[in-house]
Amino acid sequence: MPIPRSLFCADDPVDHELSVVSGEWPPELSGELVLSAPHPDTFGGPHPFFGDGMVYRLSLSAGTHGAPTGGFAWRQRRIESPSARLRALRPDVFTSTMVGIQSPFGHSNAANTAPLPWGDRLFMTWDAGRPVEIDPVSFDYLGEVGHRSEWKDFEVAPQPLLPMVLSSAHPVIDPDRNAMWTVNTHWGQLHVVRWDGDGALRSWPVAGATIPQSVHTITQTRDWLVIADCAYKVEPQVLTGGERTEPANADAPVYLVRKDALDATPVGQEVACSVFRIAPEVNHYYADYDDSDGIRILFEHTESAELAMTQRSDDLDAFGRPCDPALAGLYGFPMAPDRLTTVVFDPATATVLHRDELRDPELLWTRQLNAMDWSTEGRCAPTLHHTVHQGFRPEAITQRMLALYGDRVDRSLFPAEETPPLLASMNTDDMCLTGHHEFAMDDFPTSPIFVPRDAGSDPTRSSYAGSDPGGHDGFVVVPVVNDDGFRVEVFDAHDVGRGSRCTIAERGMTLPFVLHSAWMPRAVSSSEGTGVRFSDELDRIDELPDDLAQVARQVAADLDDRVPMASRTAPR
Ligand SMILES: [Fe+2]
Repeated sequence: MPIPRSLFCADDPVDHELSVVSGEWPPELSGELVLSAPHPDTFGGPHPFFGDGMVYRLSLSAGTHGAPTGGFAWRQRRIESPSARLRALRPDVFTSTMVGIQSPFGHSNAANTAPLPWGDRLFMTWDAGRPVEIDPVSFDYLGEVGHRSEWKDFEVAPQPLLPMVLSSAHPVIDPDRNAMWTVNTHWGQLHVVRWDGDGALRSWPVAGATIPQSVHTITQTRDWLVIADCAYKVEPQVLTGGERTEPANADAPVYLVRKDALDATPVGQEVACSVFRIAPEVNHYYADYDDSDGIRILFEHTESAELAMTQRSDDLDAFGRPCDPALAGLYGFPMAPDRLTTVVFDPATATVLHRDELRDPELLWTRQLNAMDWSTEGRCAPTLHHTVHQGFRPEAITQRMLALYGDRVDRSLFPAEETPPLLASMNTDDMCLTGHHEFAMDDFPTSPIFVPRDAGSDPTRSSYAGSDPGGHDGFVVVPVVNDDGFRVEVFDAHDVGRGSRCTIAERGMTLPFVLHSAWMPRAVSSSEGTGVRFSDELDRIDELPDDLAQVARQVAADLDDRVPMASRTAPR
């Protein structure tokens, strides 16, 4: 069965009310499922990752946020950032490219990749733009993190108002410092960035740390930040529509930076790092917060997964069949079976102390995304890691991608036919699979979350923690796309192999392509802003023609009228 075509439905999303269609909703399951996604109005363009940021929120307690008794509120909105507002007013000057949406204003900040909760605050992130804060209830835009002048932007074409900031879609929140850590890559030089929730950014170049490709993720332990080069390769000629000539790099440097070194180094001065190399290629990786016995990192390898290259209507698929034009623009699915490893590093001796691996070429293909216990307690001592896999999907692998990777792809591992999607759980101690659930061939499970069973019940723990943290005591909630209707399935985290214990849905509802998800224990309106106003970033407005300058002034005035001002401070 094919990949659901409803993934690429370009209709404007709308709100829904879901209700139980099978099983019984666990009464101890609560909080909010938040999803990031590109608005579908750019599907059919050169890449599905670049539409304006959308936020979707599913309330996991029936009858809340405007839902009727027994109903689960599904709410959505396009994030009305300066980029999205400018594009809405002058769509004629915006162009979709392989690296995002460009315009005379600059590079749109899509803010469409991952929700990043920080207590009750909510940020939406992207690799090529600043994190954007929104109100978790109304989804109102509250501001971008850091004044433009505090970031090093990547300006190869004029960007008078919208800078391309090469950052990370996965910053981390430091529970000991109550601060956000992220990165800013500038012409290959890695900088670490710290932001304390308001006021100015602090940033440090990392000595000798170059990024050959990009940084999608950063992760942290109590004492260290860990930053790997990620397998999303943008060759210069691709910026102007040229063909790829090289595959993503087969291995990557991993930089480890001590947090206390950052604490002690004046802003702007170099900080030292330790360097390791990791292979095969990676995009997502997660360190245990407790580093007393070494730095343990779970790497979700993206071996021969060509995310930066998309399908064309005249392509042939992995089996030599003509690709369906309906999938034009779809990124490349993995050409190798999934591989996950845990690696323990000793930064003092620059050695790898231990390595475990999970790889099952018959079962695990096309890992999509993961679910884990994100509480500080859960990150200190993780127990189970949960992943969603789409199965082997030859229609999403093109002959052009296979030719680019050549001998790096072992085609003898290809199953004879498509394999089903899965939800899998693995023990983080030894990477052994503890259970899996098989979905129907025409399902497309996406963006799962872990929800602790009794979050907040123990006042001595953090608000995101249950009474038994780690990822086993609670639920895995999985949104499932299917052309016959979207649904959300609930699994017991300790035993996903028993299958779904409850399903909610609404007749006729479909869901277009989405990216990462996150869980929040509650959604309360935010009165905080990030301290930066678009109207404070208009110093280069005179570079624009008069008609576009007028549009920018209108957007700035509209945002000044709408965004709460009480907590705002001028950029330092
Ligand atoms: Fe990601």
